[in-house]
Amino acid sequence: MSDVVLETKDLVKHFKGEIRAVDGVDLQLRRGETLGVVGESGCGKSTLAKLLVGLEKPTSGAVAVRGQDMTRLKGGELRRARRNIQMVLQDPYTSLNPRMTVGDIVGEPFEIHSEVVPKGKRQQAVQDLLDTVGLNPDHINRYPHQFSGGQRQRIGIARALALKPEIIVCDEPVSALDVSIQAQVINLLERLQDDFGLSYIFIAHDLSVVRHISDRVAVMYLGKIVEQGHDVAIYDQPTHPYTQALLSAVPVPDPRLRGHRKQIVLEGDVPSPANPPSGCRFRTRCWKAQHVCSEQEPLLQIRERSPHPSACHFAEINNPLRGR
Ligand SMILES: Nc1ncnc2c1ncn2[C@@H]1O[C@H](COP(=O)(O)OP(=O)(O)O)[C@@H](O)[C@H]1O
Ligand SMILES: [Mg+2]
Repeated sequence: MSDVVLETKDLVKHFKGEIRAVDGVDLQLRRGETLGVVGESGCGKSTLAKLLVGLEKPTSGAVAVRGQDMTRLKGGELRRARRNIQMVLQDPYTSLNPRMTVGDIVGEPFEIHSEVVPKGKRQQAVQDLLDTVGLNPDHINRYPHQFSGGQRQRIGIARALALKPEIIVCDEPVSALDVSIQAQVINLLERLQDDFGLSYIFIAHDLSVVRHISDRVAVMYLGKIVEQGHDVAIYDQPTHPYTQALLSAVPVPDPRLRGHRKQIVLEGDVPSPANPPSGCRFRTRCWKAQHVCSEQEPLLQIRERSPHPSACHFAEINNPLRGR
């Protein structure tokens, strides 16, 4: 049996017919693995996350969970398949309903999927979930504002665990938190992964956040994956200029290495997905761009100078933190 738990094929989401938020994404997630997805704000990461968990309908393409195409399922089959893939949202300040108690928030999935836990056992199940994520089970009747930011994100994680999914899509789960709290939440996610054999899609706008948790990393730019590989490949041997630019912005804690880094400053913002540049979408901000880049779209593939898939005509290993 294949150990691929989640797979997309040429996944596309266009809003209002023209905004190409996600524009042909192929990815695979294996059992127990974490795939980091990284890119600047506006690159389509949250839209991809919503497509994966079924909160948005794709314009075209497929999302398969354990080989079942979610876009073709209906009714009870779809509900059962959806149980298996849950989401943790970015902002614990706005994603939790302030008028619901923690017990009601974490237990809400049991109301929607009433077959999972019988009514009489739900309160205990919620308390067990709170305990699992390191919250006090006695606080079940408190409201979100009575918790700190990190604790609120734990509430969101408990809720995502309620239906015992195999896959959790984490959409910038620590971006809104203080740096000191970020590590605690990431450690919790790693422990839960070990305990429950979870597979994660872990989204961030910053390569330093995904480094610690990811087995593989996909770099996203304007609706497409531009480079993909094992974490070592992406962090030590990046071949796409966009990845190199993101990497150059990562803080370097070791002052001895800091001197060697070549700063690459990304000019301007991500272009509008309603009117992406022809050919390579990154070319308008790329220091290596040549005529061919506006004419021919570079496909995501292994190249002469890129041992892992890279969507650049001039892909070549260049680690801005080390020099060539
Ligand atoms: N519901 C929507 N309607 C129209 N445009 C949208 C909608 N959701 C997202 N977009 C647009 O799609 C692009 C990608 O957004 P998003 O997926 O949120 O990116 P990210 O999470 O990487 O910041 C942005 O240009 C955004 O404005
Ligand atoms: Mg987002």
